[in-house]
Amino acid sequence: MQQWTLMVHCLAAVTCVWALKENDLEPVNWVGGVTIMHPGKKVNNGLATRAQIFKDNVFICVPRFKSGIEATLLKTCMKSKDHDGNVCLEPFPNWKDQTEGDCSCLQSAIDLFLDPTGLLWVLDAGSAQTNEPQIVQKCPPKVVAYDVRTGKIIKEIILSAFISPESRLQFIVADYSVEGSCFIYVSDAGTKSIIVYNVNAEKGHRVILPPEVIQDSAPKDVLYMLLIRKARRDNFVYFTYRSGEDVFAVNARSLQFENAPIKSFNVGKKSKKLIFLGTDDWDCIYFRYENKTEVYKWNTSKPFLEANFQLVDNVKSELIPTHAMTDYNRGVMRLIKSNLPHYIDNGTKQGEAINSLVVMQLN
Ligand SMILES: *[C@@H]1O[C@H](CO)[C@@H](O)[C@H](O)[C@H]1NC(C)=O
Ligand SMILES: *[C@@H]1O[C@H](CO)[C@@H](O)[C@H](O)[C@H]1NC(C)=O
Ligand SMILES: *[C@@H]1O[C@H](CO)[C@@H](O)[C@H](O)[C@H]1NC(C)=O
Repeated sequence: MQQWTLMVHCLAAVTCVWALKENDLEPVNWVGGVTIMHPGKKVNNGLATRAQIFKDNVFICVPRFKSGIEATLLKTCMKSKDHDGNVCLEPFPNWKDQTEGDCSCLQSAIDLFLDPTGLLWVLDAGSAQTNEPQIVQKCPPKVVAYDVRTGKIIKEIILSAFISPESRLQFIVADYSVEGSCFIYVSDAGTKSIIVYNVNAEKGHRVILPPEVIQDSAPKDVLYMLLIRKARRDNFVYFTYRSGEDVFAVNARSLQFENAPIKSFNVGKKSKKLIFLGTDDWDCIYFRYENKTEVYKWNTSKPFLEANFQLVDNVKSELIPTHAMTDYNRGVMRLIKSNLPHYIDNGTKQGEAINSLVVMQLN
């Protein structure tokens, strides 16, 4: 935990960012997700939606929205480009673990969360989410934790016991209690719940969210969920449905005990539909409005009001951000952007995916 506090302070203090080179802050761009295949063949691998940064390495989810995606979890080094200046990705932790149809491997990595101990928690939907008619074997959704330094699998949690046919798992965070126990939270938009898993005790439960979280008539479309840390180690889970009218929060501790009354509260009303993009690993939330590319920062210690939303990224671009994340080695916040709306069009090829990892304009 001490290490974590130090990292958070470094993000704010420029003095921690030694030996920063000018091109360290340039965007990392790659088209089509070019991936190195063993033994050196390159393939187009599609569109990156989520990313986490550990030192100079970027870990990336490429959900299987289309058929023929070779790898769903990838890694790239921000500093290495091939001799044509292209960014290349490699499967993480290896090729074998990307095998579609083999339930011991990753099927479609849809979210990932790097925790302060260096574990990378990956949420696997269990099957591809393509519209194509051919049968894609369904595996149970699961969570896999990798040691980010070695790629070794540290934990694998099959989620079958916590889901129902309506389930649609979307986001994952890892949380450490005051006593040091590790908890995983996974948002399930389809059943309006959060799956809670106590990693050390190897047991979990499902927390049904209160009815006011979404109006009966509104679609249970996307359930955004973020972990916010406060001083005194009080952590909160913030959540909101894309089509919900309000933002809610719950004390993480009250999620951790089965059958405990959940103490969620309404944080504020949204003026427009918005999309949570991430946090600074501390107490600020980054978000954008639906169909807009500008990114705002909101310090959750302040009321949820437009006056407290700070515009932090306003680059005119056809690319939309889908995730905001910390980059401690360079002391900045970054965004992963892509041409997602265009890409999910049925006719779009993997090679037409445009991916960009950029530094937020205002840090
Ligand atoms: C965003 O765009 C979609 C598709 O064009 C549209 O259905 C939706 O109403 C738009 N949302 C907002 C908040 O403008
Ligand atoms: C958020 O606001 C609180 C209270 O004003 C302040 O202590 C904290 O430093 C702020 N966080 C950031 C990242 O600015
Ligand atoms: C996508 O395209 C394929 C081939 O052109 C077609 O068979 C399929 O019906 C399309 N799917 C959707 C959802 O439009």
